[in-house]
Amino acid sequence: MPAGPTDAPTAPSANEIAAPAAAREPAGRTFGRLGTIRLGIVGCGAFARFSAEQYRRLPAVTVAAVADVNPEAAHRAATTLKAGVVDPEMLIVSPEIDVVYLATPPAMHHRQARAALRAGKHVLVEKPLAITLADAQELEAVAARHGLVCVANLVERYNPLAEAMRRLIESRILGGLIHGLFMNEAADEGLAPEHWFWDREKSGGIFVEHGVHFFDLVAYWLGQGTVVSAARSVRPPAGVEEDGEGPLEQVYRPVEEQVSCTCRYPYDGWAGHTQSLVPEALRRDPHWGVLFHFEHGFHQPSRMDRQELRLVFERGEIRLYDWVPTHGFLRAVVDEESAEILARMLPGSVVRVTDRLEENERHVRGRFRDFEATITVEISFTTGLEKLALYAKTVHDLAEDQFARVRNPLHVRRLTEADSVASVAMACEADRLALDAG
Ligand SMILES: NC(=O)c1ccc[n+]([C@@H]2O[C@H](COP(=O)([O-])OP(=O)(O)OC[C@H]3O[C@@H](n4cnc5c(N)ncnc54)[C@H](O)[C@@H]3O)[C@@H](O)[C@H]2O)c1
Repeated sequence: MPAGPTDAPTAPSANEIAAPAAAREPAGRTFGRLGTIRLGIVGCGAFARFSAEQYRRLPAVTVAAVADVNPEAAHRAATTLKAGVVDPEMLIVSPEIDVVYLATPPAMHHRQARAALRAGKHVLVEKPLAITLADAQELEAVAARHGLVCVANLVERYNPLAEAMRRLIESRILGGLIHGLFMNEAADEGLAPEHWFWDREKSGGIFVEHGVHFFDLVAYWLGQGTVVSAARSVRPPAGVEEDGEGPLEQVYRPVEEQVSCTCRYPYDGWAGHTQSLVPEALRRDPHWGVLFHFEHGFHQPSRMDRQELRLVFERGEIRLYDWVPTHGFLRAVVDEESAEILARMLPGSVVRVTDRLEENERHVRGRFRDFEATITVEISFTTGLEKLALYAKTVHDLAEDQFARVRNPLHVRRLTEADSVASVAMACEADRLALDAG
């Protein structure tokens, strides 16, 4: 397991001391009138409109200005948010802005975030932080040099169920975690053929544009992983029907619609065995660790959009549903006391004992080892929130956490710049292996 959030502030470096005054200001900085953080939004598309609604609810935060290359999008957002419209390049360096929220397509993130950091702004970047690892690392370095926040909007770890799973894995109450699986059958109904999502130059591809969320979530539970193998499949171009008067159907270029990868995480997967008890020679076995398989496809009608994340333990399994998981289901062979603890760990839990084991059935065996159990149980659990309400809460809570850091450099965050870069590293490696695999 990771040691916990590693978000301690760093000592000023030589570069930081040499940085221009504007770039050094965050420590002890006072914000706009009455200490209100002035937020500037660059890119006023679908997701910015959703996020901005949550940011408006934060205390002492005001959306001061919005910008978009599409004036109609900028004016629409400005009217709703009662903010001024500014040219994107001007907003990024404006002295009237403390934090820039970038909600432009992925390929724009690096250049715009770097410009904002260089102008002394904290930056909340939509995921992915950047579409190449080198660009993501550069942003992390510039932010660290200037003592500024620059994280990607990786909301998954702000879900109460992500936190519950982290505690449950750590507790080993279901035994060691053996493997995981994420199946994402996502809708593409809102993604027209000309949408930037399908253009790898603009999006970085599915692993980078979307997969980063789930690389980050699993890293939150198990630490930084490595990609073992990856593959992709491309949707064939639509056929053309001729009726004698020309084509009836437009030809679309082939697009990547499904990606798949297997990753390994440095988690020992045994209950009751600490790593230090494992002989050194075994610890170095490259095949050791928890395997996690990720499938992401964008090809479903909206009504069929669905996700399932499965965690398989020595004594049971957990299934989480929806892409920011809203609810889940656990099955296990345990004793009454463990079932009670599990029920307390999971929000909105309802326990059903499905079998009481006879005296002679209580000796249970798996993975060459014995344990005692008295019941089999099913526990359903829920955040109690609908998909969109939970999604909104995670967006709100991430911003609240990061804005607390903007105000106080000693505030320890759940998500750091290093986490944002780590998710890009996994995604770029998976993408490289998938392309190499042909
Ligand atoms: N965190 C999440 O859960 C989540 C969910 C959905 C989308 N996103 C991310 O949000 C970002 C935007 O996605 P979207 O679905 O809102 O896309 P979108 O196409 O609806 O909006 C993008 C907006 O950026 C504008 N734009 C393009 N280039 C610009 C530039 N150089 N300067 C200023 N504005 C520019 C476009 O005109 C458009 O209005 C992407 O990075 C996407 O991956 C994140």
